[in-house]
Amino acid sequence: MTNNGTHAPPGPKGLPILGLAFEVRSDPLGTLQRLARQYGDIVSMPVMRMSRVLVNRPDYIQQLLILDHAKLHKSTLTKLVVGPLLGQGLLISEGDFWRRQRRLAQPAFHRSRTNEYSPVMVECALEQTRYWRSGETRNIAEEMMKLTLEVAVRTLFGTSLAGDSESIGKAMTFLMRHYLRRARTPWRVPESWPTSANRRARREVEYMDSLIYGIISDRKKDTRPRNDLLSLLMSAMHEDGSQMTERQVRDESMTLFVAGHETTALSLAWTWYLLGENPAAESCLHKELRTVLAGRPAEVSDLEKLPYLNAVVHESLRLYPPAFIMARMNVETVNLGGYEIPPRTTLLASQWVMHRDPRFFEQPEQFIPERWLDGLEHRLPPGAYFPFGDGPRAPRRLLPIRRRPPPLHRPRLRPTGDRSCNRRNRPEIQFPPEQGIPGCSRAVGNPTPEVRNRDDDSAIVGPAF
Ligand code: HEM
Repeated sequence: MTNNGTHAPPGPKGLPILGLAFEVRSDPLGTLQRLARQYGDIVSMPVMRMSRVLVNRPDYIQQLLILDHAKLHKSTLTKLVVGPLLGQGLLISEGDFWRRQRRLAQPAFHRSRTNEYSPVMVECALEQTRYWRSGETRNIAEEMMKLTLEVAVRTLFGTSLAGDSESIGKAMTFLMRHYLRRARTPWRVPESWPTSANRRARREVEYMDSLIYGIISDRKKDTRPRNDLLSLLMSAMHEDGSQMTERQVRDESMTLFVAGHETTALSLAWTWYLLGENPAAESCLHKELRTVLAGRPAEVSDLEKLPYLNAVVHESLRLYPPAFIMARMNVETVNLGGYEIPPRTTLLASQWVMHRDPRFFEQPEQFIPERWLDGLEHRLPPGAYFPFGDGPRAPRRLLPIRRRPPPLHRPRLRPTGDRSCNRRNRPEIQFPPEQGIPGCSRAVGNPTPEVRNRDDDSAIVGPAF
């Protein structure tokens, strides 16, 4: 790695062989921030004798995600570890195959289609919150996970699997944890070894496969038009008239399930947490919702009329981006910040670090939705705020993602217990009883950044260090 033929980017040496492995494992977020503060815009970070370079400057990030996109692939380790679950799905496929699949999947995500799913989301939320009672303490992370799981099952598979949601939830939660644990373990037991975790993973993959292949076979017999994502993927056609094989439909369904379910749950849970911690912002939001919705359930067309909600979600995705880091591996030499980065280096860009950079965000640690109300998004240099990544692989190019969850009702949640928000002290959030909405009131707990960043989908999206 050279700068005019002489230097590698600055950075710590770490321990012999291990490099920064321990630090990264025990405190990934703190380590990334510390390195960025200490070494600046481009940092070498050796981990287990492999070269990794962290970039902390918007134009370098743009270069990674957009300009040099063709020279960069998803990291090999990520593919190796999640390949058994996701196969050749969009998240990890590359090159022409990825491009073809992406083109094929695109119509399934046309705005007119995805708008049809919003009543499903409202319905799921109403069903789930029906039994919440004022003053209860609930774990918001679990509640949101249940909610987005139900939404994922119904939008992907239609109603056919509604009764199986619980076992699907258990299987997918286990599988995501299992593969992420493998991704983060430097010494991995081969998948073929009959450890109890490997055996269970195999069983759960077989279970998911049997469900998905079962629906594919049913849909082939019953050709009535449906609008769930699986049917749309099955009927999608290439220009030459060919369609996805059953295996491809399976891989893409699994990918959408994994990529879409936990990210949205985390984002919602953190939004509740931040509102619970910031009653003034919460009141502004409620006022806006009262004025625009006047007590009725929201529709997609309302979203344009809810600027404060939009600002709250932007701010929540800034402070707690569900994907906290993205990794690429260069297949040829790239020049980054004046350094020649040799092939097979893992290049990292971290949302967690950039979204807290005081060069772009005043009082970066504070939850201030108002910062988004006067066009900040357009003033920021591209690459400073990228919760969904950027460039050709960003899901926003595939999905008409709005950074706003459907506003359902106006619960007020309050954190309970210790609010220091770390792994040892899990704060919980609780409703003051008088704020319950008719027929449902609630109390919730929040995820913690460390737990989230250890176990969320971001390691699939991002690197496994
Ligand atoms: C808060 C919600 C979400 C966040 C923060 C998020 C974030 C991300 C990020 C950072 C990437 C990686 C992009 C890259 O590698 O350049 C990604 C990829 C992807 N996401 Fe999401 N996502 C969210 C919701 C969803 C949903 C709801 C779905 C689908 C139902 C989805 C489907 C995908 C797919 C298919 C990819 C791979 C795209 C490709 O490589 O072609 N995501 N997401």
